[in-house]
Amino acid sequence: MKRHLITAALPYANGGIHIGHLAGVYVPADIYVRYLRLRGHEVMLVCGSDEHGVPITIKARKEGTTPQAIVDRYHEVIKRSFAEFGMSFDIYSRTTSPTHFQTASEFFRTLYDKGEFSEQTSQQYFDPEAGIFLADRYITGTCPKCGAPGAYGDQCEKCGSSLAATELIDPKSAVTGATPVLKETLHWYLPLDKHEAFLRQWILEDHKEWKTNVYGQCKSWLDAGLQPRAVSRDLDWGIPVPVEGAEGKVLYVWFDAPIGYISATRELDPAGWERWWKDPQTEMIHFIGKDNIVFHCIMFPAMLRAHGDYILPQNVPANEFLNLEGDKISTSRGWAVWLHEYLEEFPGKQDVLRYVLCANAPETKDNDFTWRDFQARANNELVAVLGNFVNRALVLTTKYYDGRTPAPGPLTDYDRETISELQALRSGLESNIEGFRFREALKDAMGFARLGNKYLADTEPWKVVKTDPARVETIMNLALQITANLAIASEPFMPFTAEKITRMLGTGNLGWDSLGRIDLLSPGHVIGTPELLFERIEDEQIEAQIAKLKR
Ligand code: 2FM
Ligand code: ZN
Repeated sequence: MKRHLITAALPYANGGIHIGHLAGVYVPADIYVRYLRLRGHEVMLVCGSDEHGVPITIKARKEGTTPQAIVDRYHEVIKRSFAEFGMSFDIYSRTTSPTHFQTASEFFRTLYDKGEFSEQTSQQYFDPEAGIFLADRYITGTCPKCGAPGAYGDQCEKCGSSLAATELIDPKSAVTGATPVLKETLHWYLPLDKHEAFLRQWILEDHKEWKTNVYGQCKSWLDAGLQPRAVSRDLDWGIPVPVEGAEGKVLYVWFDAPIGYISATRELDPAGWERWWKDPQTEMIHFIGKDNIVFHCIMFPAMLRAHGDYILPQNVPANEFLNLEGDKISTSRGWAVWLHEYLEEFPGKQDVLRYVLCANAPETKDNDFTWRDFQARANNELVAVLGNFVNRALVLTTKYYDGRTPAPGPLTDYDRETISELQALRSGLESNIEGFRFREALKDAMGFARLGNKYLADTEPWKVVKTDPARVETIMNLALQITANLAIASEPFMPFTAEKITRMLGTGNLGWDSLGRIDLLSPGHVIGTPELLFERIEDEQIEAQIAKLKR
């Protein structure tokens, strides 16, 4: 059995988790690891809060508090909402942890000692009022290309040109409004250009199987030619550059954050972490959104390789973006659905959100979440198909046999056809999950419920019971076996629902190997009391959510 190290992007601890994060990163990562665990593999899913970087310091400044207070607050919010949502992290750590400080410092130091960095001085904008160097994003001015006001130091959002901060006309600091001045500063650079030939071979030749959106982005970066990238910043928040004379300089957040995956592994398994990171028998997969592709496919692999000893990711199945009601999700405009609010407003409905976000995941292109679609999928798919089938199977068993699993009699051709369809679903489901096609995989899992519904509708046990009661024993036995299969198949996607089904069936947890079997409940086995799995989502609930967005 292979060992699987799965990473899910570390969210910035300066806000909550919204549906875009969930659909792009966390729902797929959780589906994947739950599947691997059910198959009995050795798996670790690591994540944690990304607690450094300029935006956190700006937020602290605005709120008149410290960056530490900001990250403490959001780390708790994020951690709690993930847990409640059913994210099955083996560890949810944070980049302000002592283990991370040590791991990231050592990592930098190793590269430094090996001569893997270049040192360069450059002129950078400095805010004389705040006494800080300004990240490009925090300088605004008039675009030199199109003349639009309010362009950022790295990009004009009006005409899309990428800019250098020094090109802006009439630059201003976004922190204090002061006119920034140029000041000389020294930084360490990772010469990505030196890794370019390796990266070209590794990605463009050896990983042609990567998703086309990921492969395409890597190719265009590589074709444009890689440049050295600064891995330090002038900032008083972060991990100090572990070099003498580097006072006031910290590791660039995108240098330390991916090392956070290593630190989290080390925190969880201090004695054995190296086998997760240095043994070629480990298969590492990074789950991320598309804005993180360059960091996970180019920069982090270059860092790992420069260090030596480390394995590289086997795949980086990045997703595109999820929009909300036709518009880009924007936390500053309040155009988002927050996980912690959802959990409060739709208690017990984690699986509904997990289902809708997976069914609609932006796997190959940007996609749209709408509350009407959420309602329609909840009512027409979860209530009407999945919930309805399980309920009918359990209620009829209770009614006819007092909850006792009937023994099957002779099978008809139609029963056999149904059984082979059931068995065929398994291989499609497996290859779709293993190929990171979770939307298709979810359809396969729902296929068990659709098959069950069709079987009951076609065999009509409620009619046959009057004329041929012995036949109904076979029908209900098979319906219960399909229900148990459905519990297994839905576990990666809807773990709360799967758990409820197995509890009602009284089967205990069933492993993946049981999928496709029709002897999961023995004759005479007594099932529990049937309960409804899903409730309808009413118009008023949806209207309230839409109204809340538009406020
Ligand atoms: O884009 C983001 O939200 C980053 N905080 C992701 C970091 S992923 C990893 F490198 F830690
Ligand atoms: Zn412009």
